[in-house]
Amino acid sequence: MKGVVLAGGLGTRLYPLTKITNKHLLPVFDKPMIYYPIQCLVNAGIRDILIVTGGNSAGDFLQLLGNGADFGLQRLNYAYQQGEGGIADALKLAEHFADGEAICVVLGDNIIESNIKKAVDDFKAQGTGAKILLKEVHDPERFGVATVKNGKVEKIVEKPKQPETNQAVIGIYLYDKHVFEICRTLKPSARGELEITDVNNEYIRRGSMTAEVLKGWWTDAGTFESLYRAATLIRDNGCNRMDI
Ligand code: G1P
Repeated sequence: MKGVVLAGGLGTRLYPLTKITNKHLLPVFDKPMIYYPIQCLVNAGIRDILIVTGGNSAGDFLQLLGNGADFGLQRLNYAYQQGEGGIADALKLAEHFADGEAICVVLGDNIIESNIKKAVDDFKAQGTGAKILLKEVHDPERFGVATVKNGKVEKIVEKPKQPETNQAVIGIYLYDKHVFEICRTLKPSARGELEITDVNNEYIRRGSMTAEVLKGWWTDAGTFESLYRAATLIRDNGCNRMDI
């Protein structure tokens, strides 16, 4: 399995912090934000990793991460996203890198307390389709929200005004090789982006989506509140832990 970290976008919700730099280079407690999703993949045993970036300071990723020595890696791969087409648009750039293998995609502003080793192993055993990770939250309207019945994901709604459940779809996704053909069929949403939720709903329609609940805390870090919260959670509890 290969890993993809999506670290593009304009980060407008963090303006003016992101006026001249990329959101994923901002500090979160004691490290640049992008360190956390990379460590998440490495902790799951994934060592072949692509960073997709774009927007401001795209070149700084190379200077910061180099060949991945801080993570015990011998190389890192990079792709450049031109424009702001959304998560599923950025993902298209990983097709050549994936080269027919399954991928684990992590959004560059998602940080977790625990690890995804079991989910990755379960997905390897699953063989095909996709897997999402869920977490109960008190503000589901900010996220993709899943309706799960008898352990099966029935649908995902992106940022619903009136969420049916409080099960947020976190920004860590496991996909088989069909993800790229699905990305090619997508149409831009109301916010003008290719939505990862549309990719996931297509897997649900095909009957090949599974879900697991994540252990420990999860947060994004793309708003002032969540960026602050992420730093506090990391300071108080640690993150990317292998012991829970
Ligand atoms: C994105 C996804 C959303 C998901 C969230 C996790 O939202 O569209 O489904 O729940 O990441 O962080 P965005 O950060 O683009 O608003």
